[in-house]
Amino acid sequence: MSAIEIVAVSKVYAGGVRAVSDVSLAIADGEFIVLVGPSGCGKSTLLRMIAGLESISSGTVAIGSRVVNEVDPAARNIAMVFQNYALYPHMSVYDNLAYGLRNRGVPKADIDARVAEAARMLEIQPFLDRKPKQLSGGQRQRVAMGRAIVRKPDAFLFDEPLSNLDAKLRVSMRGEIRQLQRRLGVTSVYVTHDQLEAMTLADRIVVLNSGRIEQVGRPLDVYHTPASTFVASFIGSPAMNLADAEVAGGCVAIGGREVASGVTGIADGKLTVGLRAEDIQPAASGAGVPFAVRYIEELGAQRLVHGSVEGRHLTMALSPDLPLADEIRVTVAADRLHFFDAESGRRMARPAHAPAGR
Ligand SMILES: Nc1ncnc2c1ncn2[C@@H]1O[C@H](COP(=O)(O)OP(=O)(O)OP(=O)(O)O)[C@@H](O)[C@H]1O
Ligand SMILES: [Mg+2]
Repeated sequence: MSAIEIVAVSKVYAGGVRAVSDVSLAIADGEFIVLVGPSGCGKSTLLRMIAGLESISSGTVAIGSRVVNEVDPAARNIAMVFQNYALYPHMSVYDNLAYGLRNRGVPKADIDARVAEAARMLEIQPFLDRKPKQLSGGQRQRVAMGRAIVRKPDAFLFDEPLSNLDAKLRVSMRGEIRQLQRRLGVTSVYVTHDQLEAMTLADRIVVLNSGRIEQVGRPLDVYHTPASTFVASFIGSPAMNLADAEVAGGCVAIGGREVASGVTGIADGKLTVGLRAEDIQPAASGAGVPFAVRYIEELGAQRLVHGSVEGRHLTMALSPDLPLADEIRVTVAADRLHFFDAESGRRMARPAHAPAGR
């Protein structure tokens, strides 16, 4: 197990594509880090530089205090788990697990013991004699995990390992990976474009945007205090509602309607106001503002109501027990609003609101 330290790392591919720009990140020993962001933001490139599968254009990567920029992937003692499993199709599950160890001259008794332990942990003992094609997707994924575990690596690197699985299996494998990582305590870097996977797996999330870090933080901190409109609209489903607004003398107004007053520390002018769907509440008749319902998504435990307030699109999350009309009145507590710079999209002021239990 090892800490990983990434300092001012950039990657410019031949041809000039700048995939990663000046990324610095200190990953603690045993920590589970999730790199998340939209397609093409540089997640795989960053992971592959840690693995040594991609050269580093500038900056340094250190694993356990050793700078590994020039160290061969095989000598970095890290294990990578990919989306396509990369299992050897002609080999049994046992041989798939044992292959790397045999190559490194590990004694047979040792290999047997390590394979047995990994197989027990992953509950794949019954399949050790099968070929990968005789396994389900989830079982193959476990074998791929097993192959990483038997090497007793200093770190696990995962690149979208669950994206080939159906929705239900993804959720259960997600839980398994999390528990396994906790049990083994191995430093892990996990790449996904799925914000829910990031929220549920990570000790800390790293949100990437066009090769740069937008925000690093614990999942709930990122959710409740997004550092930018980019993070606000990427983390959380539904995305945070965002609206153009103006501030004058500490009064924030959307389309001329005041939504907050006594706001300090923000200069007069334009800004962007953010609002989570669950922070919008139904109001008593006569109170609040009219909300015109356009369509509803029933999620079972929650009901997403899409509509508009004075022509501005808004999504709110309501309890399915509440009666619903075509037009309802809604209200928002001012302390639930998020303020972002209209130009840069960066967060301007922390809301006073901090959810209970933190
Ligand atoms: N070998 C390469 N040569 C040139 N450009 C590349 C190469 N590999 C990736 N890129 C570019 O670098 C950028 C980042 O790619 P990367 O694969 O790291 O993104 P990603 O975040 O993993 O995306 P996805 O979620 O789609 O897997 C993209 O613009 C991509 O087109
Ligand atoms: Mg990728």
